[in-house]
Amino acid sequence: MRHLIQTSDLSIDEIEQILRKATLFLNTLDSSAKRPTQTLAHTNIITIFFENSTRTLSSFECAVKNLGGSITRLDVSRSSTSKGETISDTAANLNAMSPHAIIIRHQSSGAPVHLTKSVSCPIINGGDGAHAHPTQALLDLLTLKQCLGQNLAGKRVGIIGDIKTSRVANSNIELLCRYGVDLTLIAPPHFLPTHTSLPCTHDVREVIDSLDAIISLRTQTERHSKQNYGSLRDYAHDFCLTRQLVGDRDIIIMHPGPVHHNIDIEDELLKDPRCKVLDQVRNGVAVRMAVLEFFILGSEYHGQAS
Ligand code: CP
Repeated sequence: MRHLIQTSDLSIDEIEQILRKATLFLNTLDSSAKRPTQTLAHTNIITIFFENSTRTLSSFECAVKNLGGSITRLDVSRSSTSKGETISDTAANLNAMSPHAIIIRHQSSGAPVHLTKSVSCPIINGGDGAHAHPTQALLDLLTLKQCLGQNLAGKRVGIIGDIKTSRVANSNIELLCRYGVDLTLIAPPHFLPTHTSLPCTHDVREVIDSLDAIISLRTQTERHSKQNYGSLRDYAHDFCLTRQLVGDRDIIIMHPGPVHHNIDIEDELLKDPRCKVLDQVRNGVAVRMAVLEFFILGSEYHGQAS
């Protein structure tokens, strides 16, 4: 039984297979005449989100429905967690309902891999603590390829913001390094990872000329044990991506969401065609369709059908 806990669970060949399938799905989603095949008909997928979500939860739900499957959402606020049920028991009980996959988001790093011991279906990680967000990294990879070309080796990508506590940064770093992307981390000292071999700077103006793309990240105040900066406004003064900072450069702007307006990215820049935030969301549905097919139907089926 295979699970998707982190991007390193997939080989480059498998990732390319998933992205090829996602691209086919995008074409069908764009056309009212061509609908995706109902490959997940008669399957039931369960979602358990212990942490809030707009994009990941909804796009997984759309992905399942687009492929003809049914989805059961456990409302964690009404689950027996509040009566002392352990997360392992929650997973084991849901597994007894014979789902074809369980998608989980949890505030604690390691929760999804822990649950793999309690279930007999694939676990898909929808984001765990500051550890990993594999489907976000896959959809970011697809977006970068659409904008910069299929071969990302040597392309220069900056990641700016609260990198230290970001599961999106962790997953993107693992994945983009395997693709030979030249990454630079841009953040104040307290938002940089303690141990990294990647080049780092505290000044986006030092590197922006050389970048092909920049991925902005939210300041994840919910994961900070203490506030070690003056205010978000002070932070924004140095790290908000603005129209003036970007100028006329040929550069792609990305953000996994939710965006803090005028702290992560200025409103005016969010409307700029170089800003791909909503393309990322659109790609997320197609990538999650391909991921679900891959893990539920198996890589052999998926490969033949792509
Ligand atoms: N990118 C992302 O994980 O967004 P949500 O928290 O809304 O799912």
